[in-house]
Order: sequence, then C-alpha cells, then structure tokens
Amino acid sequence: MTHLPPSFTADAPIGVFDSGVGGLSVLRHIHARLPREHLIYFADSGYAPYGDRSEDWLVARSLAITAFLVEQGVKALVVACNTATVAAIRAVRMTYPGMPIVGVEPGLKPGAAATRTGKIGVLATDRTLQGEKFLQLRDQVAAASGYEFLLQPCIGLVDRIELGELETEATVALLEGYVVPLLEAGADTLVLGCTHYPFMRGVIERIVAAHAKQPVTLIDTGDAVARQLERLLEGAGLLRPSGTSALDVFTSGDAPALSAAFKALLGLAPAVMAVEIPAI
Ligand code: DGL
Repeated sequence: MTHLPPSFTADAPIGVFDSGVGGLSVLRHIHARLPREHLIYFADSGYAPYGDRSEDWLVARSLAITAFLVEQGVKALVVACNTATVAAIRAVRMTYPGMPIVGVEPGLKPGAAATRTGKIGVLATDRTLQGEKFLQLRDQVAAASGYEFLLQPCIGLVDRIELGELETEATVALLEGYVVPLLEAGADTLVLGCTHYPFMRGVIERIVAAHAKQPVTLIDTGDAVARQLERLLEGAGLLRPSGTSALDVFTSGDAPALSAAFKALLGLAPAVMAVEIPAI
C-alpha cells in the first residue's frame, strides 16, 4: 500500500528509529549537525535484537514503526539500523514515496578508501551480512576496488550493549573472539556495520592495540548519515530555519532503562514514553 505524503513543513520533527539504543550513535551526529531540529527517537527495545529476525518480519515491523512516526507528524525518517535498512528500506521508501528517508549501511566504500592491506573486516549482525542488498554492495565495491571484505557476524553483542554491559569481561571476551581473527587475517580496517557498535569503540581500540601488527582504521558512518539527511532536507526546502532543538523519545520496551541509556551513552535526560506498537 502506498501512502500519499502528508504536507510536510520545516518545523515538523525528524523520526529516527532502531531496535534499541544503537540508533543513539546516529542521533548524536544528527543533533550535532542539525541543532535546530526537533527529533523523535523510537527504540524498539521490546523487540530487540533485530539481528536474527527474518526479512519479512523486519519489513512489517519497519513499516509499523514508520506509520507510528508519521502519525507523530515527522517530515523525514532516519532508519538508524543497518539490519532494518538492508531488509526493509526499499519497502519503506515505496510506501512513503514523498518523504526524505535515510538509511544506514555498513561503510564499505569508506572502508575501501581507508585500507592499505586491501583487507577490510566488516562487523555486523548476521541478518545484515546475509541481506541481498548488502551482498550486492559488497560485490560492487569488491569488484571496483579488488579488495577483500572479511564478514564477521557478531552474534550476541547487541544483547550485551542493550544490557549496558559495555566493558564487562564477558563482553570484551566476546568481542575479542570476533575482532582478533580479522586482525590475524591482515585486516587494517574495521567497518562498524551495526549502529550499536560505535559504543564499543574504546574496547575495540584496546583489542586492536593489543593484537594488531599495523595501524587499524575504524569506520563509523554516523556523521555521513547526518550529512545525507541535511542534504535531503535542504533539497526539499525542509531544513528548520530557526528554533532550538527538541527531543521526544518513545520505546516499546522499558522506559526507565532507556532513560538510563540516554544518560550513560549521550549524557542526555529526555522524557521517555513507553508505547505499544502491536507485534506483527
Ligand atoms: N543497531 C542495529 C543495526 O545497526 C541492531 C541490530 C540488532 O538489533 O540486532 O544493525
């Protein structure tokens, strides 16, 4: 079903969603680049993680969340989740053809621009790495560059980040098991292909310092996503010309837990409202 675009105004909010707290790594870049905009964040924590969901489920869920955000009056949408982007952004764009929509995909092109060894590790969810849209991008960039992409699903990592267990021994050991083999295989560039992973940057840097034989570049596309959003809004005449930032936060999970995550990860204390978007 295609929805007619509502009449957007520059003062309307921008909707941002993820399976949980990962999208906060994108939200911080959007807020830094577009400080006058009113942002609405939806964390689907009641249904996280997305990494082992089917593509059909992700399409239905992404459409349901987008419908909720459109009801809140958003003028644009950021799918701040690689897993949902790879599975569902085509369906979301087809359903809301008039709306500026930005997705997040693993930064394979910036990865290819950064490598010197020609070996690029990609850390992401299993679902992202199996998605047709992702594999097409990988084939394209690999053919154009001649470089090798080493794909590493990080099973269980999102659960730990959702629990706020960023630095525990168990989380560090889990991540070591994913990162060290990539370093040993010669990767000098690691693409953070899940929006949760930038919050693990400090731990990854420590693992790299202990195990890498050469300097390693970490690729995070959060700022590129914010720049693309700015370009689309500018092109559509929808940049908010004045005003101060505002942030509304909704979750399908536990509101106090999300409040605590905003405080711990971004140093912000927005009001968080629990809402039910029915399961499909
Ligand atoms: N932040 C999502 C992504 O970028 C998380 C996936 C999950 O919930 O497993 O892929």
